[in-house]
Amino acid sequence: MAEPRISSIDGKLAEDFAAPSHIEEVKEKMAAFARCHAEAGRRVVLITSGGTKVPLESRTVRFLDNFSSGRRGASSAEYFLDSGYAVIFLHRHRSLYPYTRMFLTINMLDALQFKGGNPGDVVVNQQVLPNIAKVLKRYQEVKDGSLLLPIEFNTLSEYLHLLKAAAQALSSIGSKAMFYLAAAVSDFYIPTSEMPEHKIQSSDGPLQLSMKMVPKILSPLVKDWAPEAFVTSFKLETDASILLDKARRALDTYRHQAVVANVLDSRRGYVVVVTPETQAELILTEDDVRNEVEIEEMIVSNLTSAHTKFMTQQDGSQK
Ligand code: PMT
Repeated sequence: MAEPRISSIDGKLAEDFAAPSHIEEVKEKMAAFARCHAEAGRRVVLITSGGTKVPLESRTVRFLDNFSSGRRGASSAEYFLDSGYAVIFLHRHRSLYPYTRMFLTINMLDALQFKGGNPGDVVVNQQVLPNIAKVLKRYQEVKDGSLLLPIEFNTLSEYLHLLKAAAQALSSIGSKAMFYLAAAVSDFYIPTSEMPEHKIQSSDGPLQLSMKMVPKILSPLVKDWAPEAFVTSFKLETDASILLDKARRALDTYRHQAVVANVLDSRRGYVVVVTPETQAELILTEDDVRNEVEIEEMIVSNLTSAHTKFMTQQDGSQK
């Protein structure tokens, strides 16, 4: 008889993707974080953010990357925190980070100055950083409340193992957990056993690559690792005409709760949140843009309401 699909994905993960050495430690950290916040009556969201890196050589000089600045994940984290969630932020090393993302274009040295020309007294230049006090206050509240747990990944292997560990860590809090899978994850990889150890030589001529399909991690996540959680995946396309069909197909295949569908060029101002029963278009107006409203605020508001409903239904069905 054929092996069930879930265990074959687990096997593939173990075989082809090296686990980070600190995986058990991180898993325990995430489990303790989730337990502590759930006991305090808080919901916990696991946000994935940024692109995954796929090495072409064991001693990596070259790699393939997926496009993502991490802005969606980082800004969404802030809105989830404002909505009372505790956040595990599983993000690509050096991609955008909650709160600091707002100051990314600023040169730190331009933002500082000597007070009264005294070289012993450095202060912030309020003209360069007009919003710093407000953002710093919120950042420190989040830090003091231990409401944000940052976890970093670089490669696809690290991402896959850390997501699995996160799902298992959050399974103990049942429907209080939400997954918000905004990371841009590679669909292709080269298994460790087939990867050249040393730098590929251009003197060998044009390069032909053969890559394997990455197992769809949503499948075991929904069915096996965190079956009671509210799961949102993202669907990114460059061709708008196929987007909604692909989003619906993802829901049919994986049987999770929501897909946020977006097109690369319009992703900052337009998304569609698709659930098995509903389809909500979220659009930023010109007024919204002038007032610096971000589309992530709308996405998070839509999903937190759906999560509330989901938890009520889960509670009802368990009675
Ligand atoms: O970071 P920004 O610059 O702000 O951009 C945000 C974004 C465009 C990256 C984000 O909004 C987005 O759409 N992220 C998902 C992009 C993506 O990888 O889509 P996909 O069609 O390849 O994957 C669909 C879903 O399947 C994803 O939720 C992913 O988590 C999941 N997946 C993907 C690959 C894989 N092997 N297993 C999976 O489960």
